[in-house]
Amino acid sequence: MDRGRCLYVLYAGGGAALKKHRAVSEDISVHDKRSPVLERERILDILARAPDILTLPTIIHEIMEVISRKSSSATDLTTIIESDPALTARILTVANSPYYGFVKKISNVTHAIVVLGFQEIQNIALSMSVLQMFDRRGSEFSEQLWRHCFSVGVGTRMVGKYLDLKVDGKFFVSGLLHDVGKIFVSQYLAESFHRILSAMGDEDNLYGYHALEERILGITHQEVGRILLGSWMFPPDVRDAVAFHHDPAASQGSPLLAACVHLADVLCTARGITPVKDHHFVTVNRSVLPIIQEHRHTFGTEDMVSLMGQLDIEIDRQGSFLSVFRKH
Ligand SMILES: [Fe+2]
Ligand SMILES: [Fe+2]
Repeated sequence: MDRGRCLYVLYAGGGAALKKHRAVSEDISVHDKRSPVLERERILDILARAPDILTLPTIIHEIMEVISRKSSSATDLTTIIESDPALTARILTVANSPYYGFVKKISNVTHAIVVLGFQEIQNIALSMSVLQMFDRRGSEFSEQLWRHCFSVGVGTRMVGKYLDLKVDGKFFVSGLLHDVGKIFVSQYLAESFHRILSAMGDEDNLYGYHALEERILGITHQEVGRILLGSWMFPPDVRDAVAFHHDPAASQGSPLLAACVHLADVLCTARGITPVKDHHFVTVNRSVLPIIQEHRHTFGTEDMVSLMGQLDIEIDRQGSFLSVFRKH
């Protein structure tokens, strides 16, 4: 994407479109068959039972628990990973992939942990589990959503490094899971989800996906994501970053992490890595700038252009990583 197009999408096009659709009267047809208030209640009820229908494997929680303990050793982590042969095989395949480019073959889990580090192992294990959730239906939408989420994970880590922050595993995880609420809606509330897509395809519709979500579902994917991550017992700062990735200034716990996810999300969407075709509604939330500028006083448009260029390189680089994940 050239610089002019980038700036248009990030700062001008989206803003103009948003102003335009805000001005449209509230009674635009969105095929609203059910009140959003009732729909919200129904969705909250389903989410209360979410741990029964959408689960992360127990081993993921065990891995996260071991990694969060300062006293844990590589042996502790090896014991857990080796209890799952499929996970072991996948970690070794990924560790030996061109993505990492190690010359010597990595032949066991302990070796993989030593060369990749705890956080990267957690990222691989978590990415695999999330991918399994996406693959339940195998639709084009879930394929694109997976690519979007994975790219935002990579992008969030990239933005954190660009800002010279101490980047740990939470950056990738928060980016990877930022739209987990959309996965849930698309796979477990398929009828409601298709009402949103159908409204988006309506000739007269001027609303973006997010506005339609509130108008049809009565709940945002950020809130759905916050509830899901709570039920999976993710750390509070990851839950917070996911809950506020479209409005980081509203975050009480981790506005900076949420701001990194937000910028990565905007960059990926502007780059066309998005499951929903509403690039014109993509804008940087201006309340993000003061949060970022606390760490980089001069952060502005030039930095976004530079990050956009870096994102392309990172995405090319991760191509082989993605293909390893796709092999089952
Ligand atoms: Fe989102
Ligand atoms: Fe997103």
